Amino acid sequence: MARIQKHIATICAEAGKHTEAPNVHTEPIYATSAYLFEDADDAMRKLSDKRLGYVYSRWANPTVDQAAEKIAALEGFEAGTLTFAQLFSSGMAAIASVMLATCKAGDKILTQTQLYGTTDELMQSLLPEYAIETRSTDMTDLSKVAEILHADHRIKLIYLETPSNPLIQLVDIRAIVQLAAKYHIKVAVDNTFCTPLVQQPLAMGADFSIHSTTKFLNGHGTALGGVVVGRSRRFMQEHIWRQVKLLGGNSNAFDAWLLLQGMKTLSLRMERHVQNATKVAAYLEQHPNVKQVYYAGSKNHPQYKLAKKQMKNGGAMLSFELKGGLNAGKRLMNRVQICKLVTSLGTLDTLVQHPASMTHVNVPAERRLASGITDGLVRMSVGVEDVRDIIYDLEQGLK
Ligand SMILES: Cc1ncc(COP(=O)(O)O)c(C=O)c1O
Repeated sequence: MARIQKHIATICAEAGKHTEAPNVHTEPIYATSAYLFEDADDAMRKLSDKRLGYVYSRWANPTVDQAAEKIAALEGFEAGTLTFAQLFSSGMAAIASVMLATCKAGDKILTQTQLYGTTDELMQSLLPEYAIETRSTDMTDLSKVAEILHADHRIKLIYLETPSNPLIQLVDIRAIVQLAAKYHIKVAVDNTFCTPLVQQPLAMGADFSIHSTTKFLNGHGTALGGVVVGRSRRFMQEHIWRQVKLLGGNSNAFDAWLLLQGMKTLSLRMERHVQNATKVAAYLEQHPNVKQVYYAGSKNHPQYKLAKKQMKNGGAMLSFELKGGLNAGKRLMNRVQICKLVTSLGTLDTLVQHPASMTHVNVPAERRLASGITDGLVRMSVGVEDVRDIIYDLEQGLK
């Protein structure tokens, strides 16, 4: 039979096949820490460090592999080459593994000024203790990036997050990949805000696409997880898998199974998330108490042209700045009923957070303001509820 060329929504929805129990429909949970060897030769072969077969669940587990394979297929959908995914216990474990796999003592990472706070902290405070330094710059200024790469040959990794958390700033992935290629520098993109349904970094030439699967990929807020997807089987095996084996940041069968089930509705969820986010952004843009809305799908976004070029739509993440500053932000947090006060994102329900009174409460105001996180900034992960209820909730909260 000819092989059917599947659409991306089909890859999301379908259940994975299992060679050991080919007639099970929904994937089983392989809750085992270790695996039997047939005999001494089998043990010798599997312990040869080449990740052949199953030995021990820190190395590999069938349920974890099934979730990884689905993500590899989704992230590689437009890449036109084989892609390989490694699952981790969290997004941070995945991010750290890429940095440790590409840089050694004396090397440098080049990144943007605005990033998810913990990623920034990892680069600014932990990695320097192991002599891996990070240089941050405005990645939208391509001539500046070219200048830095030309001058600094210690840079081994460019780390991007686009759109950025929380101000939805975009970086031109294709342009950065082109600059990096000249110096054989690897490019990693945190694709958590987008999902492969909205953005395909590997198809644009990036070496790695990374996710906190805790967010949209799982979609239900039931398990932490992270993933690295790459195009080189060899690099993924020799360097990324090695990190899991030696540092133990592996995922587990139950979390991977929750992720697998969550991903089956990813395409369906993203459609509704994006529809709702588009309407919520339009509503906020005309609200008299809102100073500024940051949404990649809005024509008013300063990088709308770039968003059109590298994203399928604006995604489901947005932020907005209230005219009333800190008090207005706190008042909104205290009044919303449908929107939930949660610092995570990507779940079915709408989540809001006010950095000045929540995630950034311990960051000195000066530093927070310097990175654009104003007193009245609110971040929103728009959910799949009836959008009329989300807007009504905002309306009564913003009064
Ligand atoms: C964009 C982004 N990347 C990475 C992470 C880290 O993921 P995790 O919390 O799963 O370690 C987060 C978490 O909020 C995030 O928002």
